[in-house]
Amino acid sequence: MEHYNMNLTLKVWKQKNTNAQGGFETYSVKDISSEMSFLEMFDVLNEQLINEGKEPIAFDHDCREGICGMCSMHINGRAHGPWAGTTTCQLHMRAFKDGDTITVEPWRAGAFPVLKDLTVDRRAFDRIIEAGGYISVNTGNAQDANCLPVDKHKADLAFAAAACIGCGACVAACKNSSAMLFVSAKVSQLALLPQGDPERQTRALNMVAQMDKEGFGSCTNTGACEAECPKEISLTNIARLNREFIGAGFGSEK
Ligand code: SF4
Ligand code: FES
Repeated sequence: MEHYNMNLTLKVWKQKNTNAQGGFETYSVKDISSEMSFLEMFDVLNEQLINEGKEPIAFDHDCREGICGMCSMHINGRAHGPWAGTTTCQLHMRAFKDGDTITVEPWRAGAFPVLKDLTVDRRAFDRIIEAGGYISVNTGNAQDANCLPVDKHKADLAFAAAACIGCGACVAACKNSSAMLFVSAKVSQLALLPQGDPERQTRALNMVAQMDKEGFGSCTNTGACEAECPKEISLTNIARLNREFIGAGFGSEK
């Protein structure tokens, strides 16, 4: 595709801190290359603001290559913007055209309070992971791989679930602010493998209990989470989590 430059209007959520009342501010950026990433466009805007003696916009980012899950922007009403299977840092400006107005907000969910501008506190996810606990492993030398055969189909499913980067887009996209897709991915990646088997029941029960304690909403099967997930985590993981949870409640093994 031909490279082009564009002038854009940005409506960005500004909020001093968690308790302050936020609101949209309007900014103009000029000569933005279609080759830039969305975050690079924000770098240009922030440099412009600093040069004008104004406060830059706070936003989260780390890897800028779709791995860390930090870049939590709600762009034109969509978590991580218009491209499917893409994080905000991987979104490129060729998704937009000259003269566009782009609205950027932080994730909206009670369990993810806004810290400042576009940054939110996602430590609720860390606490859910902590509640899941450790897996039991034998000490000493690593076991020979052939001693622990894993069915290829299950290995693939576990790998796909492990692709979850904990970004929180599923929560932001869900009208109930449900964290079921995230929790189901984390439960599935271990429940499917022999290494995760010993604690699978307590893990499912404890992670779901923590999820509820953090104030995430219930799943009503709208599928918005799967549609907006940058790692395309499947809804089938939610069905597996429900089976794991019910099975653990009845004390069954599998
Ligand atoms: S399930 Fe998808 S949207 Fe939710 S935290 Fe994981 S990667 Fe992000
Ligand atoms: S900055 Fe790491 S996933 Fe976007």
